[in-house]
Amino acid sequence: MPSAPDAGGSPQHPDEVPSPTAAPELSQEGVDGHVEAALAAIGGAGDLDELKEARLAHAGDRSPLALANRAIGALPGPEKAAAGKLVGQARGRVNQALARRQQELEAERDERILVEEAMDLTVAPGRRPLGRRHVLTVTAERMADAMVALGWEVAEGPQVEAEWFNFDALNFDKDHPARQMQDTFFVDPAKAGLVLRTHTSPVQARSLLDRGVPLYVAVPGKTFRTDELDATHTPVFHQLEGLAIDEGLTMAHLKGTLDRLAEAMFGPGTVSRLRPAYFPFTEPSAEMDFRCFVCRGEATAPPCRTCGGTGWIEWGGCGMVNHNVLRACGVDPERYQGFAFGMGVERTAMFRHGIADMRELIEGDVRFNAQFGMEI
Ligand code: DAH
Repeated sequence: MPSAPDAGGSPQHPDEVPSPTAAPELSQEGVDGHVEAALAAIGGAGDLDELKEARLAHAGDRSPLALANRAIGALPGPEKAAAGKLVGQARGRVNQALARRQQELEAERDERILVEEAMDLTVAPGRRPLGRRHVLTVTAERMADAMVALGWEVAEGPQVEAEWFNFDALNFDKDHPARQMQDTFFVDPAKAGLVLRTHTSPVQARSLLDRGVPLYVAVPGKTFRTDELDATHTPVFHQLEGLAIDEGLTMAHLKGTLDRLAEAMFGPGTVSRLRPAYFPFTEPSAEMDFRCFVCRGEATAPPCRTCGGTGWIEWGGCGMVNHNVLRACGVDPERYQGFAFGMGVERTAMFRHGIADMRELIEGDVRFNAQFGMEI
């Protein structure tokens, strides 16, 4: 950077004719020299940073032209105009050159950014496959949700259960066949009296003892039986239990509740039907079916493949809660009555989704799960 000229200048003879050249830094040559130096620096700036430096050196407050401009003030009056014009024009040229170069360099930069930061919008992004919830989880939740929509609560119980809850409280005789080894997983040591629960019904007794009456609970959960795995059996499966205890409940309430649940799972108009059966914990007891949602009971040829032409699909068991169960849980059967039901979640999911083989539900093949999408 050229050093700042001495603003005081050399002493002038008072008789000399005033002229812009009177002070050396304000001479035509001197000013031209500053302009040339400035234009060279501006033209030589290769990027915006370098141009910034050139601006500071040649157009900044301490640049030779700025100092020359300041020196004008010290000139005798008549010389001021010519010197002002000379320096003003010089600064104008420099500023114009700066502006022009600024534009050029900005345009260059913008173009470079377009190239350097270009994105290929056609490149396939690294896709992460979406996780999926298992169809059994979703089905069990939907069943419980349908009950919650009727105003029921959801209850849960332990999978390792006391024999007393699994059998005794539910009025199973000591020698009931379901207690035998072929059905029940007993937990060591035998004297601890623990089993893997064979159904969700023990949560009936647990809920009655915990929550008291009136009571409306739905119990989705995992259950265990010593079955071989095949297309229609699995040793680990799921049930949804329902229990309602209140004053004045009848089988009509049971039937209406099952109809609502059947509709929620298989579509509007799907009704249930009850057939006489036996369970130790209900009296009377019934097996329940739901209307085949494919043929709706209309005879077809060939016979409907979903229900085998019967028009009904077996769903589970139900009945009016046996007074012995109420008494075992400290509830007065003279005042409170109730109904209960239990059905398989696997079976419900299989019919809802047309799954032919139960093994598909537990093998964990992602291609199977992927079919059901991401249902929350
Ligand atoms: N617990 C029975 C089973 O696993 C199903 C069942 C039948 C549940 C009748 C009930 C009921 O609540 O009332 O086979």
